[in-house]
Amino acid sequence: MTWNNSMSVNVESLDAQHKAIIALINELGDAMNAGKTDVVIGSILSKLIAYTQYHFDYEENCMIVSCFAHHDHHKCEHDGLKKKVKALEKDFLAGKANVADEIMNTLQQWLDHHIMKTDMLYSSHFTTIGLQ
Ligand SMILES: [Fe+2]
Repeated sequence: MTWNNSMSVNVESLDAQHKAIIALINELGDAMNAGKTDVVIGSILSKLIAYTQYHFDYEENCMIVSCFAHHDHHKCEHDGLKKKVKALEKDFLAGKANVADEIMNTLQQWLDHHIMKTDMLYSSHFTTIGLQ
């Protein structure tokens, strides 16, 4: 996955966080493709989950303090993804087969659906209030 301008929400801090998430997704994908050990893959996965949690909290806080109208729906999508990825991590740690592909598919879908669509909905609101 490569970050490009079509993914920009026009807020510097949030673009930087999205880039960091994509870098972690790529690190995870590379480790899986290279057949790294479960310990290595598990540690990248937990780093990705922790950073995503931080990013969601940051975004949600920006929405709350700026009274963004669609905060609830947005948070609901975040919560759904957090739950799904946590469940996949549990499956991975339990050694369930084919979890790696499912994790990468989920992250790709999240990028396509959430970052490319739902996150775009706050872009003009945040730029209007001058969020950087
Ligand atoms: Fe979001």
